[in-house]
Amino acid sequence: MTLIDRDAAFWNKTARKYAAGRIPDMAGYERSLARTRGLLTPSDVVLEIGCGTGTTALAIAPGIRRIVATDVSEAMIAIAREKAQAMTGIDARFAVASVETSPQVDGGYDAVLAFNMLHLVRDRAATLRAIHQRLKPGGLLITKTPAIAEMNLMIRLAIPLMRAIGKAPFVATFSASDLEAELAVAGFAVLAAERHGSKRWDPRIFILARKAEDVSEQP
Ligand SMILES: C[S@@+](CC[C@H](N)C(=O)[O-])C[C@H]1O[C@@H](n2cnc3c(N)ncnc32)[C@H](O)[C@@H]1O
Repeated sequence: MTLIDRDAAFWNKTARKYAAGRIPDMAGYERSLARTRGLLTPSDVVLEIGCGTGTTALAIAPGIRRIVATDVSEAMIAIAREKAQAMTGIDARFAVASVETSPQVDGGYDAVLAFNMLHLVRDRAATLRAIHQRLKPGGLLITKTPAIAEMNLMIRLAIPLMRAIGKAPFVATFSASDLEAELAVAGFAVLAAERHGSKRWDPRIFILARKAEDVSEQP
């Protein structure tokens, strides 16, 4: 069993519970959604990675040309497809895939979305390279990512314990500034770094980053 298979097995097991759960900070999520919609246009073809049960993909789909949404978990994708069946007039395609195996499109995607998932990948540098490869020149990466290094000590101590008993997935610890630095190394210009939480300081950073238009702009 590969590490990706192991990660997929964790998410397969929790998919129905995840789908039934409520979004913890709905106002913060709505803010991120509105910000994302404002960055996209009706002609855009967008890739969402780690799409889970498809909530964001299906919320974004009516305002764009097509969304291709992928996830390593078959159970998550099965739920996303069930939800998509209830919608008409959108082009939403779901596939079981890691970031590195997510489909590419001619000319590249206009945008890649990664919500609540970059802290779950084991090789972030490779993931950021795979995202970069899939974007068109000037394409946008829009991500909302928990910066675990900025969370309180209790949470940081609890994660390995939960993981030891199979109640948490692999989780990487990094700060928002670490992620911004990694994005620069991967060839992105960070255009905005925001916090959308509604109640208190939000450890989830919303980052808008752009792939250079021209390869000569690359670091
Ligand atoms: C916390 S859920 C977030 C789902 C959705 N993006 C959201 O915001 O509700 C994380 C998702 O990432 C997926 N995932 C974990 N590791 C992954 C990887 N290496 N490649 C693609 N998806 C991955 C999991 O299967 C899970 O559905």
